[in-house]
Amino acid sequence: MSRPGHLRLGVNIDHVATVRNARGGAYPDPLRAARIAEQAGADGITAHLREDRRHISDADIDGLMEVLSVPLNFEMAATPEMQAIALRHKPHAVCIVPERREERTTEGGLEVAREENRLAHFIAPLREAGCRVSIFIAADQRQIEAAHRIGAQVIELHTGAYCDAHAEGRFDDRDRELEGLREMSAFAHGLGLEVHAGHGLTYDTVQPVAAFPEVAELNIGHFLIGEAIFLGLEPAISEMRRLMDEARA
Ligand code: PXP
Repeated sequence: MSRPGHLRLGVNIDHVATVRNARGGAYPDPLRAARIAEQAGADGITAHLREDRRHISDADIDGLMEVLSVPLNFEMAATPEMQAIALRHKPHAVCIVPERREERTTEGGLEVAREENRLAHFIAPLREAGCRVSIFIAADQRQIEAAHRIGAQVIELHTGAYCDAHAEGRFDDRDRELEGLREMSAFAHGLGLEVHAGHGLTYDTVQPVAAFPEVAELNIGHFLIGEAIFLGLEPAISEMRRLMDEARA
């Protein structure tokens, strides 16, 4: 599954389900998107089953577990309901994210340091079931140390602040955010954690992050699904793959 030096691309298909759910009904089908993503070179599929089921549904997760030939990265909040679903399916990876009903997207990283005991107990059965446990956090040393202490094997660094600063033309902030991501990728890797990154990445912002040698995987969704409207899903993903490979070369 992991080739040395290969930067994995996880394609997040949540927003195919967002479009489907805008009308109800069956299309566009996230499973079809997942199969196309595999053909386009995705190394994994990511899907976030939110408490309010605003995009991905329970049936989507059932279907993904059945049809995927690449690993599923199952994103979820640290709730008993989601833990039971993850334990039923035993996906390759479980990524624990913070979730607030009123947010439009996952706005910040998880506060691991404040909830260390609860999270340590929460992830233990997931690890025992064979899932790789990833924690979605800000590029913050305290949070990384806490994620390491609770027994997570993977951290995913939140790239949203870096991408927002770029989009808003705040280039000093962008560069500062990027430097923080770079330093914290190296720090987490030094602790033995596998390092992933994602949120808000686009063709314009992906390469500096892809170039960090410690980063093993990027998870990218919203931009790719949007770009698919103009290019088609397979070419949109292939171009992202090309940019990632170019940054690594
Ligand atoms: N990684 C995590 C943990 C996420 O929660 C999300 C958004 O669901 C992503 C990556 C992908 O972000 P985007 O859809 O902005 O590319």
